[in-house]
Amino acid sequence: MKLLKTSGAVALLLASQMAAAQAWPTKTMTWIVPFAAGGPTDAMARDIADKVSRHVGQTIVIENVAGAGGTIGATKASRSPADGYTFLVGHMGYMGAGPALYKKLSYDPVKSFEPVFRFPDTPLVMLVGKNSPYKTADDFVAAAKANPSKINFSNAGVGSTSHLIAALFASRAGIEVTQIAYKGAGPAINDLIGGQVDAMFDQSNTALPQVQGGRLNAIALTSLTPMPKQYPGVQPLAEKTIPGFEAATWYGLYAPKGTPRDVVEKMHQAYLKALTDKAWTERMAGQGIKLLPDAQYAPDAFGKFTAAEVLRWNDVVAAAKIQLD
Ligand code: MLT
Repeated sequence: MKLLKTSGAVALLLASQMAAAQAWPTKTMTWIVPFAAGGPTDAMARDIADKVSRHVGQTIVIENVAGAGGTIGATKASRSPADGYTFLVGHMGYMGAGPALYKKLSYDPVKSFEPVFRFPDTPLVMLVGKNSPYKTADDFVAAAKANPSKINFSNAGVGSTSHLIAALFASRAGIEVTQIAYKGAGPAINDLIGGQVDAMFDQSNTALPQVQGGRLNAIALTSLTPMPKQYPGVQPLAEKTIPGFEAATWYGLYAPKGTPRDVVEKMHQAYLKALTDKAWTERMAGQGIKLLPDAQYAPDAFGKFTAAEVLRWNDVVAAAKIQLD
């Protein structure tokens, strides 16, 4: 009798979960962006959320939960209900390098989340102020060799990609620099424009308007090949300063572990439909964003990619001796 009652309750629960998943979404969704508004993650998330919301038929609200290089927002997302209404916009820092950087991370990028879909990748641009004496990455490296730790980089927070890429650059170039952490690339770039700091690596989508608007100079790229349309005359680091150097930030959407598979697949399909808008994808490409083959955007492929990135960053962090302070 007891067994019958229990299995009846389980069946009822499953039926109500299935009904909820079928009706989804019946209310506004939240995407947590773990950086201040105005940075590249925020800009990309708002753009993608706007397009996806049209195909899922519900509003998507962006909630900025900034701090600790994205780990505060990621923690909040991992503890949110797995009901298909809260998602995390994740990236290479806190969802890839996080476990190698933080001894006590309160979430696991693989075990605490369901991968939903990957965004396109974004290369980074090495930026300096308008009146900076550094015209090329070689100038910068020569000055840093002559003045160890005197030249500083602003970044979007400890463990953010702007922090990691500056650390990798310094390690590979054999220089010592000082890193200054902010709560996102938005405030970090404001201080670069204001002349309070010397340089910064920012993602192309938010670097480009600053360069085209004449507020900052681009002196190097982390893409393997030049980007003549966006950054005419600017060399990739790989070309001369650091042969083989290549970096791009990857991003994607995650849901708390246990979010129904049906919800994940509906979200992924809405994103694929959005990507058929050629005017939109061409606009992203025009910002230097690198579109990927559709298969790489899929939940399972993105999950495998996340797991591989966690392993890869263990090695990168150890080899470059990247430390949190
Ligand atoms: C980063 O450097 O990790 C991102 O640019 C952070 C941000 O979007 O503010």
